[in-house]
Amino acid sequence: MNKDKFLIKGLNGKRSLKGSVVVGGAKNAALKLMAAAVLFKDKVELKNVPEIEDIKRMADLFEDMGIRVEKTAEHSYTLTAPSKCKTKFSSDISKHIRASIVLTGPVLARFGKVSFPHPGGCVIGKRPIDLFVDGFEKMGARVKVEDDSYVIEAEEGKLMGATIFLRNQSVTATETFMMAGVLATGETVIKNAPIEPEVEHLANFLIAGGAKIKGVGTTTVTIKGGSLLSAKGRSHPVMPDRIEAGSFLILGALTSQELEIKKCNPEHLEALTEALRYSGVKMEIGKNSIKVFGGVPSMRFKSVDIKTHEYPGFPTDLQAPMTVFLTQANGESMVFETIFEGRLNYSESLVRMGADIKMMDPHRIIVKGPSALHGKILESPDLRAGLAFVIASIIAEGDSVIHNVYNIDRGYENIEKRLQDIGVEIERVSEK
Ligand code: EPU
Repeated sequence: MNKDKFLIKGLNGKRSLKGSVVVGGAKNAALKLMAAAVLFKDKVELKNVPEIEDIKRMADLFEDMGIRVEKTAEHSYTLTAPSKCKTKFSSDISKHIRASIVLTGPVLARFGKVSFPHPGGCVIGKRPIDLFVDGFEKMGARVKVEDDSYVIEAEEGKLMGATIFLRNQSVTATETFMMAGVLATGETVIKNAPIEPEVEHLANFLIAGGAKIKGVGTTTVTIKGGSLLSAKGRSHPVMPDRIEAGSFLILGALTSQELEIKKCNPEHLEALTEALRYSGVKMEIGKNSIKVFGGVPSMRFKSVDIKTHEYPGFPTDLQAPMTVFLTQANGESMVFETIFEGRLNYSESLVRMGADIKMMDPHRIIVKGPSALHGKILESPDLRAGLAFVIASIIAEGDSVIHNVYNIDRGYENIEKRLQDIGVEIERVSEK
């Protein structure tokens, strides 16, 4: 893990950034396609994989288990699962990556056993795994806790199809059970499933390999268990990252005269583009790109209330960057974080920068704008709030230092280079 920091020179309200930014492959889709490789009897090839720290950690975890990961070119990887592999996750690696939890489904379904510590990742509230434990038990597995690790074993080495109603619409739990169901005996039905585009992307990837899945894109997904999947030599591109695209859009609205966000899927961003449009941001929405026009600095945006919600509602992963936007909008906006508790704590740092934000309770803040922000020394608490700090530092007056850049590198590839290309004065300093 690097100990780098960013030095950012603020624009002091100027709207001078211009050019275009190309959006990379989606972290939260790529990690799941990697996990799905365990369900294939042959080599899986993925393209448009973002070169980010979370992907590297997942690859480290795979290598440790004996699953072969090869980088064939920039953004291209092949993965080959052996007929036998280690079923115990390295605690050193998996504690750094929450998404390692999705690997439990395919490993348990294929090898009959899996053990893992409580998964790590971003510090955004409790992040329990009760839905996973419950669902695996419904599929006939025994769950034990031994020396701080969960040990899960399928009855006679084979999972049984089951009906799993998710008390909470969990993205990773749905993806995990969908993958487990591919090799389970009989039918697995996931009810109250979230319909995030990344879930659909994984389902379509599994279907292309021969899985029998119905109800993709709906809240009831049915998987008919069968045999190992086959990639048949085809390669699969990872879908564009909607959170990265959305973050650039917010940055463009605040700091550019014109910025083009390329290689994105605007259909996945409607909750954000609708909020920005209401607020007064001018955009030209194309098929695979969005042009955003920030306008003149004196132009004020209108306040708008935000409530995070499962897709197609406002994504929790864009909540922090949107709050930075709202510090510049005229009037009072309420931000209601409904998915994770503890995901508004970063707002204290925005207050230190000069924002007028009042915490009502752990789930709600009131943002009063516009406020001039001032450069400060900041620490990135998680990857999305980390990027929000980058945006806040860019619009601020003066210099900012952002520590713990590793948290930003977890999800955004070479962010400083892409920002420099559109005119941001940002520099990475490596701390030994
Ligand atoms: N939940 C439970 N029990 C569980 C699992 C989840 O109560 O066993 C609750 C959570 O506490 C939360 C709700 O269910 O209140 C939804 O959480 P979900 O499980 O959907 O979140 P996740 O699958 O852990 C994924 C993304 C997150 C993104 C959320 C919501 C990945 C690897 N992560 O997390 O992305 O915020 O869905 O869309 O896909 C990020 O990329 O920065 C990130 C945090």
